[in-house]
Amino acid sequence: MTAATAVAEHASPTYAPARVDGIAPALPVVGADTLVPLVDGRRVPYANLDVAASAPALEAVADHVARVLPLYASVHRGAGYLSQVSTALYEQARRTIGAFVGARDDDGVIVTRNTTDALNLLAGCLPADPATGQPGRVLVLDIEHHANLLPWQRTTDTTVLTGGPSVAATLAALRDELRESGPYALVATTGASNVTGESLPVAAVVEAAHAAGARVVLDGAQLVPHRPFSLAETGVDYVAYSGHKTYAPYGAGALVGRRDWLDAGTPYLAGGGAVKRVRVTETAWHDGPARHEAGSPNVIGAVALAAAADALRAVDPAELALHEAALRDRLVVGLGNLDRVQVVRCWDDAVDPVGVVTFTVTGYDPGLVAAYLSAEHGIGVRDGRFCAHPLLGRLGFDAGAVRASVGVGTPGSDVERLIAAVAALVEHGPQAQYDVVDGLWVVVDDPRPVPEGLGLDGLLATAALGDPTGCTPTVP
Ligand SMILES: Cc1ncc(COP(=O)(O)O)c(C=O)c1O
Repeated sequence: MTAATAVAEHASPTYAPARVDGIAPALPVVGADTLVPLVDGRRVPYANLDVAASAPALEAVADHVARVLPLYASVHRGAGYLSQVSTALYEQARRTIGAFVGARDDDGVIVTRNTTDALNLLAGCLPADPATGQPGRVLVLDIEHHANLLPWQRTTDTTVLTGGPSVAATLAALRDELRESGPYALVATTGASNVTGESLPVAAVVEAAHAAGARVVLDGAQLVPHRPFSLAETGVDYVAYSGHKTYAPYGAGALVGRRDWLDAGTPYLAGGGAVKRVRVTETAWHDGPARHEAGSPNVIGAVALAAAADALRAVDPAELALHEAALRDRLVVGLGNLDRVQVVRCWDDAVDPVGVVTFTVTGYDPGLVAAYLSAEHGIGVRDGRFCAHPLLGRLGFDAGAVRASVGVGTPGSDVERLIAAVAALVEHGPQAQYDVVDGLWVVVDDPRPVPEGLGLDGLLATAALGDPTGCTPTVP
């Protein structure tokens, strides 16, 4: 079976899970009641189904940040009382950020800006292959987000393995590659695809990589906010994740893992705080996290991320998983049962995917679908190729797709609104007039006002052709 046929099979589900209108959010998030304008003049609560891109702050996180802000002062080298408090808060947050992903006692925990930053940092720490003197080789699959592909390609000899039609076939190909074409220093794998929510079983990847002498880095951007994950329990060597996807949108992320590569690697940023001693002609760099954290750290970001970790861990993981699975199942089946709607899957044997569901509507450009959902229904989704161009291309979706994603703050009613809105599109088409302006789908003469009191003079569309993120497909 090809990947394309696997996709088609999943687009024709044969069962229909119950409606989920009654399912409440698992945890309260900031902004859940925010009203947004529609083109017909009504205001409706915003249905945020784009949490895989950036999740709203947990109320617990925002409250904690508000408590900490009056204590905020310079960290690490300040002698003042509040500097010492802030330093203690930052270092305590580091411990929580590590514990959240099951760090081993001797693992390093580096506070970064986000997952992209963390993976670039690790790419600069790949040890040299003794045979070539060059950074060790890296093996990745073509399903990866660009953040878990481009840093390796830019740094070293990287093999991009094409995913197979099933998890089993992909694992077999991975094992063969490791056995027959190694040595590899590192296997870089996603904890959950940002396109389909699917992943390879981490234990199997670790076993194959370690048997071949390679380490494993997990791109945890989509996994860590959704499932408990432990470095110690899985044997994964490094994990990267983002605060803004983990309900802590204050600008921090993390790289956690084995210290030896991190302590020997080139300091990620050169500057104050990363050094023990500087002379005009020589510099002695720190080891430990300070080596890679030059400049003033993001104390509030780290504290917020730690608060999110505490809040997520305070809830039974089974409860969170049930909430998410119910919403995801309903999305897959509710959308997949609609005429002309195709749900994108990588594999038909993937287990326990996270709450990310990507789909297309035949006859409608994904950008138009996203603009329609926003303008006529107050629903936020993402369209494009999701910074995963190789995967979208291989699966036959080079023109992009639409992605809906859910999290702990998503009520079931948002999912039902999306399914009903897509059904209405399929049946009646859009009611407003849309046009492509400068490569973007916009409402013709968009009447929606901007929020007052913020000095805004108009809405800005979210992506453009030639967008520096490269996440947007060409709009026909
Ligand atoms: C799977 C995956 N990896 C990496 C990233 C990059 O995350 P960030 O933008 O927080 O660096 C994303 C973001 O969407 C993602 O979904």
